[in-house]
Amino acid sequence: MSKIIENEKGEIWVGNEKFVTLLSKEKIQARVKELGEQISKEYQGKLPILIGVLNGSFLFLSDLVKNIDIHIEIDFFKLSSYGDEKITSGEVKLIKELNADINERHIIIVEDIVDTGLSIQFIKKILKNHKPASVKIASLLVKPESLKYKTKIDYIGFEIPNEFVIGYGLDYAQKFRNLNSIYALSE
Ligand code: IMP
Repeated sequence: MSKIIENEKGEIWVGNEKFVTLLSKEKIQARVKELGEQISKEYQGKLPILIGVLNGSFLFLSDLVKNIDIHIEIDFFKLSSYGDEKITSGEVKLIKELNADINERHIIIVEDIVDTGLSIQFIKKILKNHKPASVKIASLLVKPESLKYKTKIDYIGFEIPNEFVIGYGLDYAQKFRNLNSIYALSE
């Protein structure tokens, strides 16, 4: 398989589709550090469980926990993805349940991106049955113009326009998750 090539203008071409740099790795790292520090302060004296939503959140979760200096635990949910498409199918399925017992525990859901809000709504419903002590949501990216399901996001990395993005965990047909920066599809 060939290398991912970024040209001098910060563009990546995928066939005839052009992706341009939206958030540099430096900008992402600086914001993730701030979020980690905020969570450390707000959960002082508690032992939260950070629940990553696979696959997209794996890099954000990994960098976030490195910036948290209180004890935490982690677990994962896995939801069905967009498949190879750029728009949601409108259907979410749970592929991997939690391992941890979250009854009476403080939960922070960690998402890569909140687009329509459907996935978050789906997860919140599941969590309710487990009776956690509290549930907060952290999402690296939020597309406010695209939100269809009213959702409070407690920790937001960046609000972005309603554009399809790749990199830093986010995929296009399962690829490009390994990019350090985030790129948006340019019209
Ligand atoms: P929602 O359920 O519509 O909020 O979508 C959430 C999920 O869709 C995210 O966790 C991502 O996996 C995926 N997603 C949404 N927007 C994008 C995008 O721009 N690029 C890649 N994946 C996306």
